[in-house]
Amino acid sequence: MNNPIDQLVDVLPKAELHLHIEGTLEPEMMLALARRNKVELPYASAEEIRKAYEFDCLQDFLDVYYLGMSVLINEQDFHDLTFAYLEKVSAQGVTHVEIFFDPQAHTERGIAFDTVVDGICSGLEAGHREFGITSKLIMCFLRHLPEEQAFEALSCACKHKDRIFAVGLDSSENGHPPSKFSRVFAQARREGFVPVAHAGEEGPAAYVAEALDDLRVERVDHGNRALDDPDLVARLVRQQTPLTMCPLSNLRLKGIPSLEASPVKTALDAGLLVTVNSDDPSYFGGYINDNYKAVRKALGLDENDVVTLARNSFAGSFLSDREKQSKLDEIDECTDRFRQ
Ligand code: ADE
Ligand code: ZN
Repeated sequence: MNNPIDQLVDVLPKAELHLHIEGTLEPEMMLALARRNKVELPYASAEEIRKAYEFDCLQDFLDVYYLGMSVLINEQDFHDLTFAYLEKVSAQGVTHVEIFFDPQAHTERGIAFDTVVDGICSGLEAGHREFGITSKLIMCFLRHLPEEQAFEALSCACKHKDRIFAVGLDSSENGHPPSKFSRVFAQARREGFVPVAHAGEEGPAAYVAEALDDLRVERVDHGNRALDDPDLVARLVRQQTPLTMCPLSNLRLKGIPSLEASPVKTALDAGLLVTVNSDDPSYFGGYINDNYKAVRKALGLDENDVVTLARNSFAGSFLSDREKQSKLDEIDECTDRFRQ
């Protein structure tokens, strides 16, 4: 029998704020697209692909992640990938998503920037029509590449200001501090993009502070290591800067030795605006509700904690205040129904 709080998790309206669309590529779709696009993969079956998902750190995962996305070639591929993700999470109570994409990982392979954006956006539009899920798109710069290349991605993004809402920073964190991208983030902010960044996933608390000070981020992706610095925690609480945590990702990338070590409950209790998300669900063994349920069980979260996480997912989103209020009202209606 399903735990009663997990039953609430299943139906609670939620936003997903930390999701790499390329990280939703399931092995079966990877194989089908490899066949469709005549791309050679070093795997013969979905089982073999899943066996490759043993990671000791972020870089181990990134190597497999960039290889996997080599099957994405045409606009239709990006559409299919996006729609399949929305179809899945529509059955998990997700009503709003703010998703990352990594254009440089595609343009580097000769895929046009517009092909990527057109495919993802048509998938998002179809998902809105079919499931009513609203969305915002976040373009990430790959931090292992030079800042000059990030400027090239930004110049492509400027032609899609109506469709790309924010810019982010992802890929290999250690050795690539936020300050490496100060100039391109300044330019992106001037162009009207909202800044966010992965920080404190493997890198130190100082990288989180740098993301706030140098990049002026409005949201921190992961942010786990911020908890090492009490002054930084106090600042994040005071500013109510959202943190988009990803427990199963942390576990699979050995950022934490067990789910019991996830900082989600500590962050909640400290008054941080923490949210729970799936990061790269195909690679880390679970979509958003699997993440909620995993921390619920490991950390002994109660009903109030779970409702707070769902509320935080909308409070920490880039929806307007009016939209946020209407989403929060939906949560109240859902919890009232559930408690009857
Ligand atoms: N790209 C995709 N997933 C990522 C993660 N968890 N950290 C950094 N870069 C990523
Ligand atoms: Zn991520």
